[in-house]
Amino acid sequence: MTQRETWTSRVGFILAAVGSAVGLGNIWRFPYMSAENGGAAFLVVYLIAAALIGLPAILAEFVVGRETKKNVVDAFRNLGGPAAALIGVLGLFTGFWLLSYYSVVGGWVIQYMTGSLTGAYFGGPEAYFGQISEGTGTILFHAIFMVVTIGIVAAGVEKGIEVGTKIMVPSIAILMIGMAAWAFTLDGAGAGYEYFLSPDFSVIAENYQSIIPDAVGQALFSLSLGMGAMVTYASYLDGDDNLLSDGISITVLNTFVGVLAGFVVFPLLFAQNIDPGDAGAGAVFVTLAQAFAELPAGRIIGFVFFLVLLIAALSSAISLLEVVVSYFVDNFDVSRPILTVGIGTVVFLLGVPSALSIDTFTMFDMIANNILLPLGVVLTILFVGWIYGGGAVAELRRGLGSTSGFGPVWLWHIRTVVFLAVLGTLALSIMTFMSA
Ligand code: TRP
Repeated sequence: MTQRETWTSRVGFILAAVGSAVGLGNIWRFPYMSAENGGAAFLVVYLIAAALIGLPAILAEFVVGRETKKNVVDAFRNLGGPAAALIGVLGLFTGFWLLSYYSVVGGWVIQYMTGSLTGAYFGGPEAYFGQISEGTGTILFHAIFMVVTIGIVAAGVEKGIEVGTKIMVPSIAILMIGMAAWAFTLDGAGAGYEYFLSPDFSVIAENYQSIIPDAVGQALFSLSLGMGAMVTYASYLDGDDNLLSDGISITVLNTFVGVLAGFVVFPLLFAQNIDPGDAGAGAVFVTLAQAFAELPAGRIIGFVFFLVLLIAALSSAISLLEVVVSYFVDNFDVSRPILTVGIGTVVFLLGVPSALSIDTFTMFDMIANNILLPLGVVLTILFVGWIYGGGAVAELRRGLGSTSGFGPVWLWHIRTVVFLAVLGTLALSIMTFMSA
């Protein structure tokens, strides 16, 4: 068997992890979650959740990956035996499941990108969404998205993922900053910032039961936690870098892109007098598309916006596929390109029902977000906190240098605060799922 690949540099690892984290979650989900939870109030709770829950949880995945240098199944098995390996198996399953419909959204984004240039949705974004989100055309674009994802992953960790994310992540940042600067010139900018940035703390006080779990859930989803993506990426680390500082860089960059998305989306909506609270999950594809249709430079701005969304979705999709591919590459003596094409084809087929029916799509999304991912996070935290425990601290401390005293503090924090927060989020997610 050939030698296991590693990142060629620390920046390579950080950018790959940021690429995984920055995705539809930041640009599509984050603004509409904010809008549903009272705008700025949500931002405040989200920032706290990212720092207190997201960052410690990403470190838990990192130590598992870096210590074992194995795919998600073998990593957990090495540290905790066959029972722990089941956490990894759940991760593989979630990888197939999530990517199958994530790729369908990727296909929608391609159709909106081209539709911006031709003005295809300008007559009626809602009708356009209905048209492109289900049917044989949707399957075709889902296939195109999967082919590109497969192409990058097949090229390998260094030549595919690392090189790819080194181009993609800076492009996302630059284009988003450019769009935010443009949004600043819109008439609605002031009202948009006001809505996004000045929190009404009474909203938090009155709605904390829904705001807190939504913010925690968003922080976990956005950091790609709960299915071994970060375990897998950290397994390609070699050496003892400071995982805490890498984790902080990744969390900050990821949050930065989410906030930038707010700086683009809210001025646009307010410029067109669209109430962000009405937008819901259709925010990007219907409401924002509406704004593009009505703006003078709408075609080009719309194109750039959906291009960024596409790049972000792609750099996340490769991490989902890599979780599964990594397991097969480690365990079977078959070449990576062949395995990647095989696994990618299975993912494509699993996504076909979601491409044919938006109701199936919604069901896949609910099961992933409300059950699979929060369950994966809870099990990971439980395992790392209470079973791997001291070993996890020792692994984290390698590279912490003078801040190594953080190790034990981190352990108690994930055993208590993080564990309770993710358990509460899981319980509420399951209740939401049952009542849906
Ligand atoms: N974090 C990505 C986003 O914000 C989605 C994602 C990619 C993901 N890989 C993941 C979510 C793994 C959970 C687990 O869009």
